[in-house]
Amino acid sequence: MQINYQEPSKDLLTRIDIHEKYGSANIDVWTNELLKPQAGMNILDVGCGAGKLCFLFNEYTHGGAKITGGDFSEELLGKAREKNQQVGADIDFQFLDFNKPFNFADNTFDLCTSAFAIYYASNLDFTFGEAHHVLKPGGRLFVSGPLPENKQMFYDIIKEATDKTIPPMPGSSRFKGDIFNTIDRIFAKTELHKFENHLTFPEVAPFIEYVRASLGEDRKLWTSMFNGKDEYEALIGKIQAVAQKWFDRDGKLVMTKVVGGILATK
Ligand SMILES: C[S@@+](CC[C@H](N)C(=O)[O-])C[C@H]1O[C@@H](n2cnc3c(N)ncnc32)[C@H](O)[C@@H]1O
Repeated sequence: MQINYQEPSKDLLTRIDIHEKYGSANIDVWTNELLKPQAGMNILDVGCGAGKLCFLFNEYTHGGAKITGGDFSEELLGKAREKNQQVGADIDFQFLDFNKPFNFADNTFDLCTSAFAIYYASNLDFTFGEAHHVLKPGGRLFVSGPLPENKQMFYDIIKEATDKTIPPMPGSSRFKGDIFNTIDRIFAKTELHKFENHLTFPEVAPFIEYVRASLGEDRKLWTSMFNGKDEYEALIGKIQAVAQKWFDRDGKLVMTKVVGGILATK
């Protein structure tokens, strides 16, 4: 399945910022507690974006792990390299398209991670096969992504606001099924972990900021719902009206992120 998806850095960084500002739980703590990356490890993060996970592991291991971040967005790699310099880290950020062969020798990495990214792969057997090749025997793969019940309130508001069908999201529609099953077939041992984060918005504006950073035309995930800028603004206006109605009724807006973490061993 070919998936046409791009991630502008502004939208990605806005969503990360909103998760941190309004969330009740911290996904970074969950990730570190689950994986406990160690100094001396060789780590690859696939679809690293602006480097969130790479910097997290670098900090956790006090700079002691060898970390490589790969992404196909030169814009996001640029942001990651900028931060690398700013914080004086030595992470190797390089071009990687997870729909193409990974440019690393077999049995190289102790840990291969991918947060909210690799599930956009066109051919899951191929991509997770590549991750398996580059991991050492006993090495671990960790893939996080949305579970089907993720952000129910966000989709319910959009459904109420429009008479349009919500486009299928490549992450949540495939994560627990196809993606878990593919990894389980290729790897020796596979576990599914769960993380919940309740985002409480004390007003409508930051929720709409989140909506804009999700539905943006450049991400190409929601374009079946609007055609051009005017229709996009009209759609946002309708969503805002329904969000306001919910807010007036409940006194707050609560959106729960429900994230799965697939942890597999080679
Ligand atoms: C939602 S972002 C997550 C970024 C990062 N892992 C994080 O947690 O902040 C998804 C990432 O997948 C990357 N991506 C999408 N398709 C890709 C592909 N074919 N090869 C490599 N990266 C890809 C995007 O450029 C983007 O950085």
